[in-house]
Amino acid sequence: MAETLQELARLASGCTRCPLAQTRTQVVFSRGNADADLVFIGEAPGADEDAQGQPFVGRSGQLLDKLVAEEIGLDRDAFYVMNTIKCRPPGNRDPKPEELTACSPWFDQQLELLRPKVIVTLGNFATKRLLATTDGITKLRGRAYPFRGATLIPTFHPAAVLRGGGVPMAQMRADLVRAKEVLFSSEGVEALV
Ligand code: URA
Repeated sequence: MAETLQELARLASGCTRCPLAQTRTQVVFSRGNADADLVFIGEAPGADEDAQGQPFVGRSGQLLDKLVAEEIGLDRDAFYVMNTIKCRPPGNRDPKPEELTACSPWFDQQLELLRPKVIVTLGNFATKRLLATTDGITKLRGRAYPFRGATLIPTFHPAAVLRGGGVPMAQMRADLVRAKEVLFSSEGVEALV
């Protein structure tokens, strides 16, 4: 068990627990502030992330950073970003159940060391995975859920907002305002459920 996120990232960088180790360029562990109370969790690294070694560095990431700055007032160095799995699935397919299982010790330790106050899941995949449900994001978003001592707020994936335009954009902005309220309140999830 690593004692710091830095140590955990170093250990994860050599991971061979699943076949994605053979096709990835590098392990994509996280970006942002390891002391942050706010973490965003996406699905899996895409091509840009695989090349650069950080999550959400492409167009989706740029939109995420812009909306967080506008709605929460935090710049990209003030929050933490990670994915459900750390290596790019070829062709950007969904992660397979066995890849999620292989990656979950990294994921679990990462959240345990981070101990965030607010978790925002980005999109269907991450939200269903964390809440262990088959309900879709459209049904799940709009409220907060208790999750491992944190408050989990589901929202759309920024790639879906880029495709969908005005309505999902406004809904994602509202979800970020909800995250801000929990982040800066002393009460946590009970205030919003
Ligand atoms: N989409 C994700 O879900 N994660 C990334 O890191 C990039 C795009």
